[in-house]
Amino acid sequence: MEAMVHETPQEVAEAAARRVADLLGASTDRFSFGLAGGSTPEATYKELRGRASGWDRVDAWLSDERWVPPDHERSNGRMAASVLFDHVDAVFHRPIWSESFGPDDSAAHYEARLRSLHGNGPPDVVLLGVGEDGHTASLFPGTAALTETRRWFVGNQVPALDEDRLTATFNLLWKARLLMVLAVGVSKAPAVRASFEQTTPAGRLGAGEAEVEWYLDRDAASLLG
Ligand code: 6PG
Repeated sequence: MEAMVHETPQEVAEAAARRVADLLGASTDRFSFGLAGGSTPEATYKELRGRASGWDRVDAWLSDERWVPPDHERSNGRMAASVLFDHVDAVFHRPIWSESFGPDDSAAHYEARLRSLHGNGPPDVVLLGVGEDGHTASLFPGTAALTETRRWFVGNQVPALDEDRLTATFNLLWKARLLMVLAVGVSKAPAVRASFEQTTPAGRLGAGEAEVEWYLDRDAASLLG
């Protein structure tokens, strides 16, 4: 796993946005772009709005979602739509939510859509954050999704948050051409170090075929050797 260290959170957002824009610009066919929630990824989505062309070739999807209605303030899809996808002509595939079925049904339905989307090739890039506990997407320490060996997307109960999530599993994330992990702030430094020691869920991202790039500011990188 490669770490790129920048002076400030803004420079991290700009560098990550440039990377995605360059990859999109270099592609000629459909471009599969997976996105996480969280404030650090959100800053990159804001930078992406005016930086990239070729959005009409983009199939965007979520690496994870909270089990809330689509217009809920905690929805990752709502955030990504308001910050980016309401402003560009990409196709934004979001999981369906309904009171009449549960998160795992929605995850299975979303997986079917992602499998058909990726019938001709792997995700091009998935942009992820990392939590202070070392989670990434909604792959939280000690949760069932960490040990899923077959499915690409599952419902995942997160006792620490008393919340249900939907999340990509490692089976899907490891297939991507590139995984970009963003972390800023001193509060993330222990999780970043633990991830590079491969003792966190985020630290397992490098165990598949995907190239993994970490975008850090100096504070988040401060405990790396
Ligand atoms: C979520 C995210 C999650 C997030 C990290 C980092 O649904 O919360 O997908 O994995 O990316 O927790 O979030 P911050 O950048 O806000 O710390």
